[in-house]
Amino acid sequence: MKAIVCTKYGTPDVLQLQEAAMPIPRDNEVRIKIYAATVTPADCSFRSADPFIVRLVYGLIRPKNNILGVELAGEIESAGKDVTGFKAGDRVFGISPASFGAHAEYKCLPEDAPLAVIPANATYEEAAGLCDGALTALVFLRDTANIQRGQKVLIYGASGSVGIYSVQLANYFGAEVTGVCSSANIELVKAMGADKAIDYTKADFTKNGETYDIILDAVGKRSFSNCKGSLKQSGVYLTTVPTLGIMLHMFRTSKTGGKKARFTASGLKQNKENLNFLRELFETGKIKAVIDRRYSLDQIAEAHRYVETGRKKGNVVITVGRNLATQITRI
Ligand SMILES: NC(=O)c1ccc[n+]([C@@H]2O[C@H](COP(=O)([O-])OP(=O)(O)OC[C@H]3O[C@@H](n4cnc5c(N)ncnc54)[C@H](OP(=O)(O)O)[C@@H]3O)[C@@H](O)[C@H]2O)c1
Repeated sequence: MKAIVCTKYGTPDVLQLQEAAMPIPRDNEVRIKIYAATVTPADCSFRSADPFIVRLVYGLIRPKNNILGVELAGEIESAGKDVTGFKAGDRVFGISPASFGAHAEYKCLPEDAPLAVIPANATYEEAAGLCDGALTALVFLRDTANIQRGQKVLIYGASGSVGIYSVQLANYFGAEVTGVCSSANIELVKAMGADKAIDYTKADFTKNGETYDIILDAVGKRSFSNCKGSLKQSGVYLTTVPTLGIMLHMFRTSKTGGKKARFTASGLKQNKENLNFLRELFETGKIKAVIDRRYSLDQIAEAHRYVETGRKKGNVVITVGRNLATQITRI
């Protein structure tokens, strides 16, 4: 099969389209023919070993997993003899947080992995996109912050992948949603359900006197100390980016009443139920996929370069198995 192979850490140029061994499903596994996958800031971190801690977990000298990519959508091509929940031809979406491998034509996953049938009305690209920001947003807002109807929720970095799905999910859960983004993305953030949108190049939300039940910093640009004054008395600050600071604040605020600081690694908390939940929301039109750009597998270095600008809106998607070299779509 064709795959993007990463044998050393470095710039996007280390990513090479190569022939790789076809994965063979174990008895409890399915083999998925991948049609779409995402490129995320995490993929860029794993590729570049930045931050350094990546090396401690994923290989000190070189990456242990040579094929990157976590979120995928495709079709079940074959199934091991013990698999009962899927059959060849099922259209599926899901994640492979431990072994990666989504930037390839095929991937084997255990039947009980976070894998489910994709929304009936979704393209493979849309389904892969949901596996990125929407799954993350769900774990942060519903499971970590216990979002409630009527709460005031502020999403910082509202136009990125985590941000734009957080806006939509907070809206779905009945919150009053404020999105913070740059001027260029104000209309997008409002169109995705934000009641208010603040342009961070013109105004600082921490200085406007408003307080929120939940502040989700989806891009890790504002600290707990920075946001504390904008939290209600029992408000929660969440960040998607792990730092020593957030770990210390998390520990400290877990021992006291009042305002809390929280980080979570959402990939470790995913399951079929979350995917089925998103499928239902997508099928009933309660959330939409936001796809900024599409690249073909052989354009993956270009996709990494774009993601590394930190300016993508929603998802960047890799379309596998079809030549989309001339179809880069901008929203
Ligand atoms: N903890 C977890 O489980 C988990 C899961 C998924 C992702 N993450 C992490 O979460 C972070 C966000 O991921 P993502 O995929 O959502 O990122 P992303 O899509 O690449 O974020 C890009 C967006 O960030 C916005 N942005 C850039 N600088 C900003 C600033 N100073 N203030 C406000 N917005 C800014 C940009 O909007 P403008 O152009 O309008 O500025 C752009 O739309 C990454 O670090 C990722 O690794 C963590």
